[in-house]
Amino acid sequence: MHAAVVTEFDTPPHYLEHPDPEATRPGELVVEVVAAALHPRVRSQADGSHYTSTGALPLVPGIDAVVRDASGRLRYALLDDTDLGTMAERTVIEEDRSVPLPAHVDPVAVAAGMNPVMSSWVALRRRIELPRHARVAVLGATGNAGRMAIQVAKRFGASEVIAVGRTPERLAPLTALGADRVCSFAEVSAAADVDVVLDYVWGKATADAMLAMIPARADRSAPLTWVQIGSVGGLEAPLPSAAFRAARLQLVGSGIGSVPGHDFAKELPAIAKAVSAGDFDIRARAVPLADVENAWESSRDSDERIVFVP
Ligand SMILES: NC(=O)c1ccc[n+]([C@@H]2O[C@H](COP(=O)([O-])OP(=O)(O)OC[C@H]3O[C@@H](n4cnc5c(N)ncnc54)[C@H](OP(=O)(O)O)[C@@H]3O)[C@@H](O)[C@H]2O)c1
Repeated sequence: MHAAVVTEFDTPPHYLEHPDPEATRPGELVVEVVAAALHPRVRSQADGSHYTSTGALPLVPGIDAVVRDASGRLRYALLDDTDLGTMAERTVIEEDRSVPLPAHVDPVAVAAGMNPVMSSWVALRRRIELPRHARVAVLGATGNAGRMAIQVAKRFGASEVIAVGRTPERLAPLTALGADRVCSFAEVSAAADVDVVLDYVWGKATADAMLAMIPARADRSAPLTWVQIGSVGGLEAPLPSAAFRAARLQLVGSGIGSVPGHDFAKELPAIAKAVSAGDFDIRARAVPLADVENAWESSRDSDERIVFVP
């Protein structure tokens, strides 16, 4: 079969011949890949920078996909960290980390949407108790995951969602997705009185946002839960210690590890149902897997999620 193969961490994957996969453990299935998306997490897997990277090469990247099983049924599958991911004609999945999909689903939209939707869905369902009628700020709201977080927070009953981002022309359209207000990082004190922050940015931008928001809170004894989900602005953040003393601020992370695999699996059917039904506004572009090497770099700043189709 053919696959996108990473042979060095500092170059994009190449489209190469690769040995056919075999199922070796109970519960594993060999499946045909129908659509596999290029999420930021896949880029960090392929360049060796993700915190789960073992440094082993060669590897076929891809952490999830819409696949077709031997009975012809479409499934959405999540993969563990493995050297055979989903950017291949065929791969191996664990049946209990997959969910059947309706036959007439758009596989490209589902492949594009599941990971970004899951990021906030799982955070709000499995990492925190979302207060009733919560006010939620999304930092990094213009990205794929941030745009979904606005919609997910509203779906889960948030009374107000404030979208925070760095690019005004990308922020403005977010009101159509359900954001009640949008603001730049410079104006983030306007989001001071939220109950929950969903943070996709981290780095200095997060430290600065805390410094701006904490003193501006009307009631600093009201709980503020800051959920660390992504790090597009930096892997490390110089957090102000005073912020944790001056307000009832607690910091939690949400991702693989802090959310056990079985908790992700429990949420999968509901997420897949909502995404398959078209409940979320998903921007996706299908690209033949054979074009992986060119598309890898040329799509880096695209606001559409690239989905490879073998
Ligand atoms: N923990 C989880 O379960 C989980 C799941 C999915 C994703 N994530 C993480 O969440 C993050 C976002 O993912 P995504 O799918 O939304 O990525 P994406 O679609 O590529 O969007 C990235 C966004 O980040 C913004 N951005 C980039 N650099 C920035 C900076 N220095 N300061 C402020 N904003 C910046 C960009 O803003 P502009 O619009 O201004 O260019 C863009 O909108 C990634 O780190 C990803 O790994 C985590």
